[in-house]
Amino acid sequence: MLKRSISDADVAGKRVLVRVDFNVPMQNGVITDDTRIHAALPTIRDLLDRGAAVILATHLGRPKGKPDPKYSVAPIAARLSELLDRRVETVSSVAGPDAESAAKQLESGQILLLENTRFEPGEETNDPALAAAFARLADIFVNDAFGAAHRTHASTVGVAGLLPSYAGLLLQREEAMLSRLLDNPERPFVAILGGAKVSDKLGVLAHLLRRVDALLLGGGMANTVLLARGHDIGSSLAEPDRVPDARSLVDKARERGVELLLPTDVVVARGLDAEAGAAVSVDEIPRDQSVFDIGPETIKRFCDQIGKAKTIFWNGPMGVFEQPAFAEGTMAVARCVAAARAFTVVGGGDSVAAIEASGIADAIGHISTGGGASLEFLEGRTLPGIAALPDA
Ligand code: 3PG
Repeated sequence: MLKRSISDADVAGKRVLVRVDFNVPMQNGVITDDTRIHAALPTIRDLLDRGAAVILATHLGRPKGKPDPKYSVAPIAARLSELLDRRVETVSSVAGPDAESAAKQLESGQILLLENTRFEPGEETNDPALAAAFARLADIFVNDAFGAAHRTHASTVGVAGLLPSYAGLLLQREEAMLSRLLDNPERPFVAILGGAKVSDKLGVLAHLLRRVDALLLGGGMANTVLLARGHDIGSSLAEPDRVPDARSLVDKARERGVELLLPTDVVVARGLDAEAGAAVSVDEIPRDQSVFDIGPETIKRFCDQIGKAKTIFWNGPMGVFEQPAFAEGTMAVARCVAAARAFTVVGGGDSVAAIEASGIADAIGHISTGGGASLEFLEGRTLPGIAALPDA
């Protein structure tokens, strides 16, 4: 369902509260990937160009309802200011008198970034008092935080019921692109799923199984499926308690005629710091070694399938790609996805990082800023942050 768009609002001279998802990865106070900040720029620029005063709200990390300098948004304000080439005001509170006074002083074309919404205990409980405090800051509310749209929080859902509310440009694009995967995707539709745990992806696997023609599994989650198929996976990471779910996945794929591709060869080592040897067959994984990547034969089979696709969704790396010795599977899949003549969507933090690392981000149709949010969307669930906005 299309939501009322910010493009339809008269914002000149208005104060506009925009919920963004600037929950970016950081190391020692330094932003290591600013994809989410870039993704929100079109909405911010559009509002500034049309004469609005923009008040931005975001969460960062999980500070559990109290201020923690480690999770301050100060580095984000600095990065945003560089990207927009203009001053970004800050305030040390999230809502309340200081935030209100800072918001009131804003003029058209100026920006204020509020402190981390999760410094307030009422954020994650969607406390009506906090939602009302957010509403006092502005005339209009815009939700552009697709990555946080699966959370029922005061700054995503509560405030939307109290101000005239609109969908931002990023949120609209995410909804349109991810919907293309669920509604009549061009066939063949190939989904590639990886990452550590099968338990995180059972919902999305079940929903996608009804839509895809082929499902390619790699990463730690494939180990659990290999286990369910009776392979000895040595000392690899797996979820033995999820073997019944993995078995049912294999059965459902067979019933529905979905081609399920699992690794047939893998790169193994005694530990992440150990040297990787030559790839071995999944029937010959040594007892004392673990699977850390897919092998060359698997890469070839996966890439052949990807090459035939007209629609591709990829979430989760094929191995421990942060370590050069175990990166080839993920990088090779990234290159094949980029080369495919298909509508391609990549979603989820790790696979986005892999796409960035492989330098082929420009060749991808849509890189979703949502991790949990894109998976829940593709599970067919209603995201509360979107549902709270009026229909177009
Ligand atoms: C994310 O990184 O997926 C979003 O910003 C949501 O963060 P959360 O899982 O801490 O709610």
